[in-house]
Amino acid sequence: MDILAAMKERRSTRGFLQKPVERGTLERLLSLATQAPSAINLQPWEFTVVSGEEKERLSRLLVKRMKERNISCGPGAKKPLPDYFRERQRGLLNVMLPNLPESLHFQDFVNEGSCNFYGAPTAIIITLDSVFSKARLTDIGVVVGYLVLAAHALGLGTCPIGLITAFDDDIRDVLSIPEEKEVVIGVAVGYKDPDAPINRSRSERVVLDDVVKWRE
Ligand SMILES: Cc1cc2nc3c(=O)[nH]c(=O)nc-3n(C[C@H](O)[C@H](O)[C@H](O)COP(=O)(O)O)c2cc1C
Repeated sequence: MDILAAMKERRSTRGFLQKPVERGTLERLLSLATQAPSAINLQPWEFTVVSGEEKERLSRLLVKRMKERNISCGPGAKKPLPDYFRERQRGLLNVMLPNLPESLHFQDFVNEGSCNFYGAPTAIIITLDSVFSKARLTDIGVVVGYLVLAAHALGLGTCPIGLITAFDDDIRDVLSIPEEKEVVIGVAVGYKDPDAPINRSRSERVVLDDVVKWRE
């Protein structure tokens, strides 16, 4: 698939088929994602690929913790959001809401969905060694970008899941990830369910002028 087409088409998947992703496909995906550039070629990332019963166990634990601690998806803002960011947030709600059953509250769908990786058969947990400063989070962002695009080109759906960082101790514990690895993000990976209404939601983007400033 053409890289430009993949960049244009890709959107997050929040409804997956129960069909497992073959080990060979996951290896191919990760070998493509790790072609990403990184500062001084440090490749500071590590991936824990969780499938099968382990993934179910992890999801159950995260959903339980989310409910116990009343954790909710949010913008991670340090101050109240300016109106233009609020509007983008509302925009996402507006494209997702019509594709959710009326009985389901948006925030519950996103909170529970994030904690169970929207039912995807595989969750990839990406960690950063604590030897690094926050500057290396940029490298993780780049590799996630490669991962979601490569997945799309391989016919897979993905959803990055930032919410899980609220449970980093639990995740390290259940997956035997060493303490010096910081959980930065998870990515739900699987085959997109073509019949799941939520997958019809297509988030929009602001016009270029809102985010690009030219200086000449
Ligand atoms: C760093 C990061 C964290 C995210 N965390 C979550 C999350 O916890 N739950 C969720 O449902 N989506 C999450 N997303 C997906 C975003 O909501 C999604 O990328 C955004 O709305 C744009 O939509 P698109 O991916 O369909 O283009 C996250 C995306 C990124 C890049």
